Amino acid sequence: MRRVEAGNRRPETRRSWRMQSEPLLSPTADLEETVFSDIVSSKGHATGVTYSPLEGHMSGEDGPKGARLQKFLASAGVASRRKSEELISAGRVRVNGAVVTEMGAKVDPELDIVEVDGVCVEPSVQKVYVMLNKPSGYVSTAKDELGRPTILSLVGEIKERLFPVGRLDMDTEGLLILTNDGDFANLLMHPRHEIWKTYVAVARGRLTDGDLSALRHGVLLEDGPTVPAKAEVVRVNASSTDVKLSIREGRKRQVRRMLSSIGHPVERLERISYGPLELGDLPRGKWRALNEKEVKGLLKEAKR
Ligand code: URA
Repeated sequence: MRRVEAGNRRPETRRSWRMQSEPLLSPTADLEETVFSDIVSSKGHATGVTYSPLEGHMSGEDGPKGARLQKFLASAGVASRRKSEELISAGRVRVNGAVVTEMGAKVDPELDIVEVDGVCVEPSVQKVYVMLNKPSGYVSTAKDELGRPTILSLVGEIKERLFPVGRLDMDTEGLLILTNDGDFANLLMHPRHEIWKTYVAVARGRLTDGDLSALRHGVLLEDGPTVPAKAEVVRVNASSTDVKLSIREGRKRQVRRMLSSIGHPVERLERISYGPLELGDLPRGKWRALNEKEVKGLLKEAKR
């Protein structure tokens, strides 16, 4: 088995096969093959995700010196292992500029430039999907100029670089999805996909039927009217009302502004669901990996 020579190694910028052509596997198939079985059966942290697809390349059949070319192509989402072998045999794969038709040639995913039909293949990164029960007082960004605590400090055990799917205000609590899968995040956040997000707000005063009707039909905010929402009273307290509000938009501080606009400022806000995904009894400040069914359910919801 020959090791592919390091002639023309990975430059800083390059064309990406993933970016420039349609994957032979659909994103969902890619998720199914690369992510679910591995994440769900991850080792280590009970609720965590420590599996790395690259580990497979560095041990066992691949040995310490790199990954078999067909396996690298498959794990990068180019094609199934068998289809990747066909691509190699057909002379469509180059490594560091040279056509490789030998099955089992090895590549170093970090250093070697692998191209299929002239377009560079990015090494795959393990996809991670978790949900966090965000406490109040944390910002939903990776860094904060003011030095306030960030949500990333709550998922410090996860080594992958995660980002939130949308944001919750610093004072808002509840369900926040974090991932390192940009396509997945974009799909969920795209306004056209209109995923329902449900919040429980403690709103000052007592909401009337007229207030609920206004929320359901749409209220006028400074950036335009809101689209119809679902609204119901969950509990009436001495000086406030617990309101369950579901919205399909994701405008800044939208729930707070909607309730303020009808004269009931929010005293406390929690997101309890995102599409089919429910916060459940996940303790505040804790996170857990999403399972296959949950990730698929979110994708399905976005693609409806
Ligand atoms: N609406 C808000 O007002 N705040 C949030 O964090 C989310 C929705």
